[in-house]
Amino acid sequence: MHPQAFPLEPIEKASIDELRSLQLKRLQSTLQNAYAHSPVYRAKFDAAGVHPDDCKSLSDLAKFPFTTKADLRDSYPFGMFAVPREQCARIHASSGTTGKPTVVGYTLKDIDTWATVVARSIRAGGARPGDMVHVSYGYGLFTGGLGAHYGAEKLGLTVVPFGGGQTERQVQLIQDFQSNIIMVTPSYMLAIADEYERQGIDPKTSPLRIGIFGAEPWTNDMRVAIEKRMGIDAVDIYGLSEVMGPGVASECIETKDGPTIWEDHFYPEIIHPETGEPVADGEMGELVFTSLTKEALPIIRYRTRDLTRLLPGTARSMRRMEKITGRSDDMMIIRGVNVFPSQIEELILKRPELAPHYQCVLTREGPLDNLKVVVETTAGTGQDSTEARAAAKLLQHEIKVYIGSSVEIELRAEGGVERSQGKAKRVVDLRGK
Ligand code: DLL
Repeated sequence: MHPQAFPLEPIEKASIDELRSLQLKRLQSTLQNAYAHSPVYRAKFDAAGVHPDDCKSLSDLAKFPFTTKADLRDSYPFGMFAVPREQCARIHASSGTTGKPTVVGYTLKDIDTWATVVARSIRAGGARPGDMVHVSYGYGLFTGGLGAHYGAEKLGLTVVPFGGGQTERQVQLIQDFQSNIIMVTPSYMLAIADEYERQGIDPKTSPLRIGIFGAEPWTNDMRVAIEKRMGIDAVDIYGLSEVMGPGVASECIETKDGPTIWEDHFYPEIIHPETGEPVADGEMGELVFTSLTKEALPIIRYRTRDLTRLLPGTARSMRRMEKITGRSDDMMIIRGVNVFPSQIEELILKRPELAPHYQCVLTREGPLDNLKVVVETTAGTGQDSTEARAAAKLLQHEIKVYIGSSVEIELRAEGGVERSQGKAKRVVDLRGK
């Protein structure tokens, strides 16, 4: 370990037995609190015929009903809160593509818990005392910016609260201030890397040492590509606003083997996405979380729609989740074959002529769905060059062989695919249009 490294919190080194007994105690009190103070939870538990007293072991959690985004929407804006609104220090909301936003609330203690888990995440990512953190996650109702910000401050680092956008100035300030850590979506990191090159600066020479990337799926191949291009270590931070925000789980730099779940605050389960039955650790399914310490908005068995599996702890005793490469909402079904954008991303990254700026465009012809992969060529490769066309052909072939789908490939010149300043939009669905 680096001599100047920050020390771990005792719970990060606790035995599994100690962790499980803490979890049970916290789970029981969370269930009691939700039942006593949130009419929505009380009604849901009553309808399912369960009472918080029925929770005698961690496995009893499976008797309790799930919570979904729809529950939060139906009780818009504050109906699921377990404290009077006046006791909330902050509100966040996720935009959602349709209808009302999902609103979440935090007491001051919740904000402190959140800062603690984000601080833990940044430390796990390899931060050292004295580091400066450039935050490019969006500030505002999105949990990314403020979540990262409070965590970095709590760890005692210097924060540059940049937010998204103004890519040219992002580069200038990272260079001028000599930031060591960047927190940003991986897709926006690529846009920042492009901007470095546009300004004639080799991104490898940047002062950045670590990137803490999340808020959207990204593959291990993307990690390798970003690490090489930026000359940094890239780690994965996971979270969602309904459960807290960023920092529900985060990767340890020494292993980079999937985010460690901060299980003393968030209890994970994996369920079969169709039957809702819990599956064993190691098996793929939908990730479900129960908060163990939240006050304002306790969340019981929240269905994330993210697909992954639970893995044993490595750098910490707490369990890990496999890096999320897909969420059920992004799954495309092309003539009966399930396709995730991340599978396409992996194949794009194998072709040096192609840049990992891409979108999957869905259209419908009669009863049949078509998928077109729109992808940029790299700066040095002409869009119409023989190399580019050969790369497109190979990509098309590999998608057929490895994923099983016949797709069309459209090449675009550098800058031809819309850049995100936050979460990238990987699937463009034109089927109803
Ligand atoms: O994206 C919170 C966050 C901010 C996480 C900054 C990490 C960094 P939401 O906007 O509520 O919250 O979106 C949550 O984003 O259910 C996943 O589908 C996806 N997601 C978040 N982190 C990752 C990740 C924030 N590391 C939804 N890998 C989640 C893959 C991720 N997907």
